[in-house]
Amino acid sequence: MRFPSEEDGRGIWELVKSTRVLDLNSAYSYLLLSKYFSDTCVVAEVEGKIVGFVSAFHPPKQPEVIFVWQVAVDEAFRRRRLGMNMLKHLLTREVCSTSRYLEITVNLSNKAAYKLYHQLADELKTSCVENECFPSRLFPGGQHEEEIMLRIGPLI
Ligand SMILES: CC(C)(COP(=O)(O)OP(=O)(O)OC[C@H]1O[C@@H](n2cnc3c(N)ncnc32)[C@H](O)[C@@H]1OP(=O)(O)O)[C@@H](O)C(=O)NCCC(=O)NCCS
Repeated sequence: MRFPSEEDGRGIWELVKSTRVLDLNSAYSYLLLSKYFSDTCVVAEVEGKIVGFVSAFHPPKQPEVIFVWQVAVDEAFRRRRLGMNMLKHLLTREVCSTSRYLEITVNLSNKAAYKLYHQLADELKTSCVENECFPSRLFPGGQHEEEIMLRIGPLI
């Protein structure tokens, strides 16, 4: 697990595409994250292939929060604690040393993600509070599921 660099943008895009459940953002957005937000993003690499990715940032008006945007693990590496370990690794970084809450949004139908984040809260011996974040009506096309906010913490 390490910080991403621009060289990883393509591999991250391919990994996110392969999940088929995550919103696939532009290749440019993954280059931006790798270049300007690498301190708060994580890639996991095995034999030169990107098999795990977490994107996150500190919301400018809430510096005590680490907001996690996307978490992806290659299908061949699932259920081996990689998702959990990338999130825990992020929280050990210097840039997160003053983070009091980890926030993430999830679709209710995504049972794996939902369980992962609740288990993270359990393992950190802290709370996980749910709130509405982005209801379906805010998305174009009326097809996107509601995004529920999970707020994990306090972390420190
Ligand atoms: C969600 C995802 C990131 C989990 O990654 P992972 O590396 O397989 O998860 P981990 O092995 O770290 O799992 C940790 C815990 O999460 C829960 N969990 C993870 N996957 C699960 C699944 N498919 N079903 C039920 N629980 C699951 C379990 O409690 C697990 O602990 P356990 O194995 O000790 O029971 C992965 O399935 C994925 O990339 N999915 C597609 C993209 C996605 O949905 N991302 C999240 C969007 S918000």
